[in-house]
Parts: sequence; structure tokens; C-alpha cells
Amino acid sequence: MKGFDLLKIDEDLRYNILISTVIPRPIAWVMTKGKNDYLNLAPFSFFNLITSDPPLIFLSIGRRDDNILKDTTKNILENKEFVINIPSKEFAKLVKLTAKALPYGESEVEKFNIPIENSFKLSVPRVKNIPFALECILEKHLTLGDPKDPMDVILGKILYVYADENYLKNPKGILGRLGGKSFTVINEIFEV
Ligand SMILES: Cc1cc2nc3c(=O)[nH]c(=O)nc-3n(C[C@H](O)[C@H](O)[C@H](O)COP(=O)(O)O)c2cc1C
Repeated sequence: MKGFDLLKIDEDLRYNILISTVIPRPIAWVMTKGKNDYLNLAPFSFFNLITSDPPLIFLSIGRRDDNILKDTTKNILENKEFVINIPSKEFAKLVKLTAKALPYGESEVEKFNIPIENSFKLSVPRVKNIPFALECILEKHLTLGDPKDPMDVILGKILYVYADENYLKNPKGILGRLGGKSFTVINEIFEV
């Protein structure tokens, strides 16, 4: 047996314990639009539903060095719209590639040639052939934690859900996040 007194251990260990024990986590592959309409795409696994009525989700996004907002946060705060793509295993490499920090204004969609298609309610598109996409608008922005290095928590309201019917019937292959740098996929489904 091992125990961890979370408020007494070092920050990196705390992070590693948390991401290794709250598993699997869904992955929000978030598309946003920034200045000059460039498209930003980045994955986040501190993500889940909050409520179904109203239909709210949260994303928890860290800061870069010097307290600088990540591009996703910046774009959501400016433009209020974002699309959460829910990836399957085929997208794993691209999900990983789009986690690289590009300079603000450089598009992961262009850099990695990621095909896109129009959303139903928003001007921000979704990734083409993605299993599910949640079209969201900003509901609330919270900053939590140390003011010198806070977390930005984005609460979003889902306006529209796009779903590939095959994945609705059988979600095998949907990607999830584990501890360290590991991913997982849904591969066993049962009822009790
Ligand atoms: C699968 C995966 C999940 C991630 N989850 C988070 C997360 O929940 N919060 C976070 O701040 N960064 C997370 N990251 C790191 C961001 O994707 C990374 O910082 C990215 O550069 C942010 O891009 P942006 O500046 O374009 O918003 C994750 C990376 C990967 C590969």
C-alpha cells in the first residue's frame, strides 16, 4: 500500500499521482479561432461533463512560463467559441503532435495538414471524420490556485453535438488518457 499526502508532496509528484489515478480521462481536442481567423488545435484531458441541464463541460488549462495564457485559453476568452473533438485511435499521433507549443498565431491545422469540416452552429470547424464534436460557447472563466501560476478553468455550454452514428452504436476505439505519456482506447464494453 502507498499513500500520498497531496498538500505535503512536491508539485511534480502530485501531478503524476493525480494523472495516474484518475483514469482513464477523456480527451478534448479543442479547436479555437484566434486573431486573423487562424485555427488552433490542442488536446486537454482535464476535461469532463459538469451538468446535463444545462449542458456544461469544463476544461482545466495550465499557464505557460511567465504566467502566459495558452493559445486555447486566449482564443476562447477572445472569441467565446470552441469545438471539442473527441478523437479515436487513428488520431492519436496527431493529438500528440498538436500538443506542441507553437508560437501564437501559427496553426496546428495548417502545420500538420489536418482536414476540417464546417460545424453546424459555430464558425469554428471540427476535425474531419472525428467520432464526436461538441460545439461550445464560453459560459464562465475561473482562475484557480496560486495567482502567480494559476489554472484557467473554462466552463463551456454545449450548443450542438455532432456524432458519427457508428461510434454512437459502438464506441470501441475512442481514445483516452492515462498517467505519464500513455493513452488507452475503449476495447471492452459490458453491462452488469
Ligand atoms: C493527451 C494530452 C492531454 C493534455 N491535457 C492537458 C490539460 O488537461 N491541461 C493542460 O493545460 N495541458 C494539457 N496538455 C498539454 C497541452 O496540449 C499543450 O500545452 C498545448 O501546447 C496547448 O496548446 P495551445 O497553447 O495551442 O492551447 C495535454 C497534452 C496531451 C498530449
